Parts: sequence; C-alpha cells; structure tokens
Amino acid sequence: MKIAVIGSINMDYSLKVKMLPEKGETILADSFYTAPGGKGANQAVAAKRLGAAVYMIGAVGKDSNGKELSDKLKKEGVETSGIKSVDTPTGNAMITVDNDGSNTIVVYPGANGDMDEDWLIKNLTTIEDSDFIIMQLEIPVKTVIAAVKLAKRLNKKVILNPAPASVLPEEVFKGIDFITPNETELAVMTDTRDIEKGAEILLNKGVENVIVTLGHKGCYFKNKEDEIYIKPYKVRSIDSTAAGDSFNAAIAVALSEGKTYRQALQYANAVGALTTTRPGAAETLPFKDDVEKFMERE
Ligand code: RIB
Repeated sequence: MKIAVIGSINMDYSLKVKMLPEKGETILADSFYTAPGGKGANQAVAAKRLGAAVYMIGAVGKDSNGKELSDKLKKEGVETSGIKSVDTPTGNAMITVDNDGSNTIVVYPGANGDMDEDWLIKNLTTIEDSDFIIMQLEIPVKTVIAAVKLAKRLNKKVILNPAPASVLPEEVFKGIDFITPNETELAVMTDTRDIEKGAEILLNKGVENVIVTLGHKGCYFKNKEDEIYIKPYKVRSIDSTAAGDSFNAAIAVALSEGKTYRQALQYANAVGALTTTRPGAAETLPFKDDVEKFMERE
C-alpha cells in the first residue's frame, strides 16, 4: 500500500521552557535546537517508519534549510521527487515546549505557500499510484480543495488533518474519508465544543468518518453506523510536538494494512502516545517495532 502526503515541510526552531509565556511576557528558555518538521513531512516520516511506502508532495526554498529537509526525507526512505524548490524561503516553525510537554507553535509557511494546483497535476502519476492521500492545512486551502477533488476523482482514500484550525469551505467536506481534528480544530470548524455534536455536524457536511484526537483522554470516532471512544495509553509525556502527525500517519498505515477502525484507532493512540515521550518532531518519531513492543508491554 502506498501513501502520498501532500503538505508542509518546515524547519522547527524549538525552545524548551518551564512554563509557556503569557501575553506580553518575556521569559528565558532552558534549551534551544533546530530540527526537521512540518506537519506534512512529519506525517511522511511517521508513515514510512511505520512500514508504508511514502511519497511526499511539497515545496521548499532554494536555501540550506530546503536542502537539509529534502535530504532528511530522502534519508528516511521517503520518495521526494514530488518536492519542488522555489524562490520563496523554506517554511519554518517557532515552537515552545513546557515542562508538561505542552506546546505553542507559530508557522511561517514560506515555500509551503507556493504549493499550487499545477504542482498537483505535475505529480498526477504519484497520486494515481497511491492508495491513501494525507493532507493538512499548512499549504493553501485552495490547493487542499483541488487535491481532495482530484483524489476523489481517482477513487483514493483521503485523510484531512485540519491543522492549523481553520473554517473550511463547504465544498471540501464531501471528498473526505477521514477528518482528524483535535478538540480546538473541531470547535473552530463546527462552532461547538461538544465533540459528539461537532462530529455529527461534519458527517452531515459529507465527511465519511470523523476522528477527534483528545490528547491525554484518547480519541473519539464517529461515522453513520458506529461511535467509538478509545482510551489513552498512560505515558510520561515530555513533548507533544508531532503527536497529532504520527497519529494521522498511523491511521493511514493501519487502515491500508486492513486493520478494523477500532484496531487502527488503538494503534494510532499508541503511536501518538509514544511520540510524546521523546523531544522534537520528525527525528524522534517511533518505528513500527517500537510501537509493537510498546503495545505488548501496555
Ligand atoms: O505538528 C508539529 C509541526 O507543526 C511542527 O513540526 C511544525 O513544523 C508545525 O508544522
């Protein structure tokens, strides 16, 4: 089974702090590092490490960050011919992580903003060759809409991770097989904080399946026939960066391997939980073996 990730590639600038700063506050960080990230690239690496064949379709700048990030994906075994180099600087993210592992992230999209419909068409063969298409919202929404429509026309399974939170045009929902908001993203899209009602609203808009990630409370699944709550794995979380990304990748990998919804959700919960026990994004994502051992142990 093959997975194409259409999405963002960023360099992350991460600061470890004791407590996230208040508005208007200046604080000192305990440590700082730069590392590969971007929701799209993280999802591609995670899916690859979990055993899938993965294509990345994205954009980086013609700068040292762009080269480093493309090389990193290649080294991970992700197929990178779908990454274009553009004149706009590579996207980046400013991340602060506190002692509980909670974070704040501000993304400058940069080159990710140059992802357009033409580039999707140039990568048509890749999309045709994939079973699952995963997207997020760090590239232009109109490109996401075009990709959803194209994927549907080609009869592909579409997973949309609606992050960062956005109000989406109605036309996008009908082509989505799985939408995976967290509670905040669900509230922004549906105007309610009630997750069951919010999921129902998305189903009525035409989405086939809704998965709400609930952080340390696990996750919630709803479609027209079924409703499932999956309990969380209890771990000592030190950095939640990319946990949502690995969760999305795990859903795609598990479903493409023929797992049931319940098994896929359980697996994705384990992958997400394990991700929070390590600092950083793409570089510390778990491998298939780590996840299997973790699930046996728990
Ligand atoms: O989901 C985590 C990612 O969000 C980070 O790697 C950062 O680049 C932003 O895209």
